[in-house]
Amino acid sequence: MAGDGYYDRHSATQQGAAVIGLDLLRTAIAESDRGAMESPKIADLGCAQGHNSLAPMKAAIGAVRRRTTADIDIVHTDLPGNDWTSLFEVIEHDPASYMVGHKNDVHPSVIGRSFYKELFAPATLTAAWSSSSLHWLSASPGPVADNFFVQSSTDHVAIERYRSRSVTDWTDFLARRSVELAPTASVVFVDVLMGDARGGVAGTMGSEALFDTLEQALRAARSAGTITAEEYAAMVYPTWFRSLDEVRAPFAPAFTGPGGETLQLVTLEPTTLADPFLAAYDTSGDAGAYARQQAGFLRGFLEPSFGTALPRRTAPQRTAILDAVFADAERRIAADPRAVSPTYKLAAGRIRRAA
Ligand SMILES: C[S@@+](CC[C@H](N)C(=O)[O-])C[C@H]1O[C@@H](n2cnc3c(N)ncnc32)[C@H](O)[C@@H]1O
Repeated sequence: MAGDGYYDRHSATQQGAAVIGLDLLRTAIAESDRGAMESPKIADLGCAQGHNSLAPMKAAIGAVRRRTTADIDIVHTDLPGNDWTSLFEVIEHDPASYMVGHKNDVHPSVIGRSFYKELFAPATLTAAWSSSSLHWLSASPGPVADNFFVQSSTDHVAIERYRSRSVTDWTDFLARRSVELAPTASVVFVDVLMGDARGGVAGTMGSEALFDTLEQALRAARSAGTITAEEYAAMVYPTWFRSLDEVRAPFAPAFTGPGGETLQLVTLEPTTLADPFLAAYDTSGDAGAYARQQAGFLRGFLEPSFGTALPRRTAPQRTAILDAVFADAERRIAADPRAVSPTYKLAAGRIRRAA
């Protein structure tokens, strides 16, 4: 995610998504066996800079406190290159931090390692939480010929590479968590959702028109010679938005992990999330302000991936190119905010380890 706290300042959309899973997280903790409460440990998988983890971790602490007075470990995890400095500042100083009122009984820590790998000792997690993160693939499956978002592309070879990586990643994620969750403990997640294809027409995920403003900006940069054709193809969003069927696929009816532990998908709820910036635009009519917010949202999660597509550029050149591309997307958004305003499709789910 874009560093120096930029992601946190531009992730109101992801903050709204996280709220959708809070009750599922409370229920998961309330319904786990006493054994899962002996040394309470909550994992936050894909924490980024932390602001959007505060409400879920607060909800988890409240739910654990209804079961036990034992000290609680909160473990935030993300990739090694995450903006950990911002995360530490947020935990320590954000007025909404879950640490407020819990200086002595709640203990935060971090792990800089992919959630597709082993993170925790066997059977030690009371609950795990992940929001807006599981669509990120374990590595980029490579260039896409005609769209930064592979699921809007017509590059069928690339589509298959991304789809198949998503299948492997999902089972790897489940295999690791099947070992780490205490018996009866759950992973609760909220993530983007690809709608089902109907009558031969591809499914949608709600932000196609918004993404298209950025795609048009990238194509214009390629046409103007600001980026090369090779750089254009390498500028990808290394993710896959799963459909409900893709989420369900490993559970038929249960997922069996490497040690024989089983996981059940006890809840999977599709839902929608309104554009968090549209109400202010409806009131003010300020298309420029709306466009700044949406372009900032896009840049918040895409800038690092796009930056890696420019390895032969100097850092100032990379910044100048990305400034120009996102400024162009912003102009396109400002031209007609209502036409590009997304209604996001999301799914919230709970996966429980059997007793
Ligand atoms: C869009 S952010 C979501 C952050 C936060 N959970 C939220 O709700 O705002 C996605 C996060 O997932 C992290 N991520 C992506 N792939 C990951 C992986 N394999 N292991 C751990 N974290 C990963 C990214 O680095 C990023 O911080």
